[in-house]
Amino acid sequence: MENIAKKFGDHDVLRGINLELSNGVFGLLGPNGAGKTTFIRLLIGLMKPDQGKILIDHQDSQNAHYRANILSKLGYLPQTFDVLPRVTSIEYLTFLSRLYQGSIKLNHNRIRELLESVNLWQHRRIPLAKYSGGMKRRFGIAQALLNDPPFLIVDEPTAGLDPEERVTFRNILSDLPYDRLVLLSTHIVEDIEIACNRLIILEQGKIGFDSTPSDLFTRMMPFIWEKRIPISMADIYFHNEQVISMNIAEDEYAVRIAAVEKPPEFEATQPTFEDVYICWLHRAKLGLKT
Ligand SMILES: Nc1ncnc2c1ncn2[C@@H]1O[C@H](COP(=O)(O)OP(=O)(O)OP(=O)(O)O)[C@@H](O)[C@H]1O
Ligand SMILES: [Mg+2]
Repeated sequence: MENIAKKFGDHDVLRGINLELSNGVFGLLGPNGAGKTTFIRLLIGLMKPDQGKILIDHQDSQNAHYRANILSKLGYLPQTFDVLPRVTSIEYLTFLSRLYQGSIKLNHNRIRELLESVNLWQHRRIPLAKYSGGMKRRFGIAQALLNDPPFLIVDEPTAGLDPEERVTFRNILSDLPYDRLVLLSTHIVEDIEIACNRLIILEQGKIGFDSTPSDLFTRMMPFIWEKRIPISMADIYFHNEQVISMNIAEDEYAVRIAAVEKPPEFEATQPTFEDVYICWLHRAKLGLKT
């Protein structure tokens, strides 16, 4: 992506994005409305940027001549994935195989393998409208993998999945061959910590962070402090903007705050990935030098 910008009306959603993605699993994080879905829609050509260029495999993604080639290499799960209600999962995947118009062959073993990988094979005869929210999401993951895509782009794939199915999804990612690019937008920061080797954080229309998840940890950990307080004292901290988390720990609260220097009565702690992410987002307000 070279200097990509996109606005809706007078709202600058993306303001000059420069980014090079290669093989690996990339996690895309950012607050609600940061522009993650817009970024993805631009990347795959569902929307045109106001400015800048997107090259995929060195080819201009806007060039009609290359589009069919690019699309045949792409697997995509949109943030809102609507299924055809009356068909079954097998019928839908068969239909999609035909839409690829010869670039992939209809392969019943592949369809079975995909449905088994997302634990839907036993539900293959049920119309998709009768799937639960999590089942639809898992079916969305299966359809994105149908063409064994070198570029897999998934927008909140694990939203609404139960913990076991989230683990299944992460295993699917780790089973993919290394020679591909996976871009995963999510709010489940644990998925990023476990499954991604590079993390990109979108903030105020720009790339705020681009490095490994462990680098975010290393940079933020020195600023996070913890103190145990009785539950009755919790309201002292409710409106404190330094607080990054307050978790019940047996009959107390574990209050974690972000600060440059160790505050009196607080101790250094082992933060979670969510703690370091929230600390990163609030770094300017808290005066943290990163
Ligand atoms: N088609 C559109 N028309 C007008 N505004 C839009 C459109 N699509 C997105 N926006 C606006 O652009 C901003 C970014 O939206 P986007 O969906 O990309 O955010 P996001 O980071 O994916 O958020 P979320 O975490 O909630 O999925 C938001 O302010 C949104 O209201
Ligand atoms: Mg989104």
